Amino acid sequence: MSGRYKELQYWDSRYEEEERGHEWFGSYHDFAHLVRRELRPGTRGLVLGCGTSSLSAELHKEGVRPLVSIDYSPVCIKEMAQRNACVPDMSWMVMDARHLQFPDETFDLVIEKGTLDAMMVDEKDPWRVSQDTITLVDQVLSEVGRVLAPNGCFMSITFSPPHFRARHYAQPQYGWSVSCDTYGRDFHYYFYTMLKGGQLTCLDIERGKSLYKSHVNLEHMPTLLECDDEDFLNNIQI
Ligand SMILES: C[S@@+](CC[C@H](N)C(=O)[O-])C[C@H]1O[C@@H](n2cnc3c(N)ncnc32)[C@H](O)[C@@H]1O
Repeated sequence: MSGRYKELQYWDSRYEEEERGHEWFGSYHDFAHLVRRELRPGTRGLVLGCGTSSLSAELHKEGVRPLVSIDYSPVCIKEMAQRNACVPDMSWMVMDARHLQFPDETFDLVIEKGTLDAMMVDEKDPWRVSQDTITLVDQVLSEVGRVLAPNGCFMSITFSPPHFRARHYAQPQYGWSVSCDTYGRDFHYYFYTMLKGGQLTCLDIERGKSLYKSHVNLEHMPTLLECDDEDFLNNIQI
């Protein structure tokens, strides 16, 4: 992903130029089975950073209604609202995923595909995430946790594998469990499912802690020589 993926201006001009929707991380049918297993009658849905993807339309067809789709690009929201003007129980709003303008516990399903990836694109080293990115992602996840109803589900679709991404999700303050599936044929994508009210496993808790351990000042990284216990796994901060 290009560093420009973090800029609103980039997305606005891209959506002005794009003729048809670009689908990130494969088509809905590649991961529909993973969505369906969590759907219940009357699921109220929110799509974060919808872009011009067909994901919202597919969820609506699955019966996720009402369905709200947000993006911080007014250009794509205008286009998607026009394209779907006659579809009932489907709305489109310009909104920043870090500041959701919905009351607590409004949705049973919140889903994002590639939105957090775009927000994290500045990171040079996925092993050592900057405090700015940790804060940015936490703002989104805290908002997701707030607007999810009890037993609600957050789905996150990404190219980022568990050792990099699960530790952001595996924080006890969100009050959800974390699981990960993969899909795709040649290239595998990751499909994370967070269930509000679920428990984190011991591995998840350790992963969650590693997010903060990995945020170190490299100048103060101990060397093996400085460390008498030679605990090299700990030193390399995995
Ligand atoms: C990689 S694209 C993915 C688009 C769409 N979800 C898909 O699967 O095709 C990232 C999207 O996230 C949106 N986005 C980035 N940061 C955002 C933010 N803070 N709040 C809302 N939308 C954001 C961008 O405008 C863009 O539409």
